[in-house]
Amino acid sequence: MSETLLSPVTLGSIELANRVVMAPMTRSRATAEGDVTDLMVEYYQQRASAGLIISEGIYPSENGKGYCRTPGLVTAAQVAGWKRVTDAVHDRGGQIVAQIMHCGRVTHTDNQAAGAETVAPSAITATGDMFTDTAGLQPFSEPRALRLDEIPSVVAEFGAATERAFAAGFDGVELHGTSGYLPAQFLSTGTNHRTDEYGGSVANRIRFIVEVLDAMVAVDGPGRVGMRICPNNPYNDLHDDDPVETFSTLLSSVADLSLAYLHVIRLYDTPDGPAIDNFDLARRNVDWPLVLNDGFEPDTAEAMLGSGSGAAVSFGRHFISNPDLVERIAAGAPLEPFNHKVLYTRGADGYTTYPTMDG
Ligand SMILES: Cc1cc2nc3c(=O)[nH]c(=O)nc-3n(C[C@H](O)[C@H](O)[C@H](O)COP(=O)(O)O)c2cc1C
Repeated sequence: MSETLLSPVTLGSIELANRVVMAPMTRSRATAEGDVTDLMVEYYQQRASAGLIISEGIYPSENGKGYCRTPGLVTAAQVAGWKRVTDAVHDRGGQIVAQIMHCGRVTHTDNQAAGAETVAPSAITATGDMFTDTAGLQPFSEPRALRLDEIPSVVAEFGAATERAFAAGFDGVELHGTSGYLPAQFLSTGTNHRTDEYGGSVANRIRFIVEVLDAMVAVDGPGRVGMRICPNNPYNDLHDDDPVETFSTLLSSVADLSLAYLHVIRLYDTPDGPAIDNFDLARRNVDWPLVLNDGFEPDTAEAMLGSGSGAAVSFGRHFISNPDLVERIAAGAPLEPFNHKVLYTRGADGYTTYPTMDG
């Protein structure tokens, strides 16, 4: 079994030993200042037999930080911290991409550094709460609408973070383009009420992401740049009137960039099944390798790849509790469940404490 899942594949200029990708997962084990901890080095090294690890969301600027104890790629100390992670993964023969995640309005100021601001395309506060270490759950902070003249500097933050990611030894970068964060806020009609060239028509709403991808690709070409999307994702109070039109326009506009990969979430666990076939939408608009995600088991992933639907499959939750997921798939061994209660807590418990098959 799993002949395809365990076979090598190339995404852009990143060569994977197998097609089992670790999906990006925020785990809140960084310091309050966004520095990498020893635990994080150990956690990623434990999972280095993945064909590719995609890191947890990393903020590219202080304004981009949303969640407590999430890591940044802003300071020299953060670059040095991530270098320890990438070295540890490379020492085991693995590869790791940095997911660049600017949270925009999905934040609370208590989670941000002094002087940082909550910014968004429009001054529309997200409905919902954000966990803070200071006072537990608090309503999302009210964002300030970005001025037209400052958008180029926000775009440039993604290019600068890409440079720092490569300086830190990452094998690539992935733009987080979904889940209600800043790029998705620009894209979607519910969060973008701008009347300038970054809002209104779909051609205007895609402009921010197109410029961000250009900035990321400008650093070292497209071969080490990927993007993550999930059309129709309602997460973090996101709404778009016509996700098929929005994403078809976005993808066809950037298709010529020939990125290393497109990482697509299919929204598997919805009550009536997904309203849109996101894999199909992706395939119709770009010919880049697809990394498929959401709700896969080893056998369903194998069947999906066997049908030629994608280049690789990413697993999130299974990688939390099965650091040796690749070896388990190869052996046909059972997978361990994970403990929900310690997903975002401090310390090793439920983070680096899951054993391999051999104990
Ligand atoms: C604890 C946790 C944290 C997550 N953090 C991120 C994140 O930082 N960036 C992101 O793009 N997706 C994030 N996700 C979503 C996962 O990457 C993935 O899409 C999701 O778990 C579905 O895949 P699965 O069914 O294989 O678990 C997170 C998921 C979990 C469970």
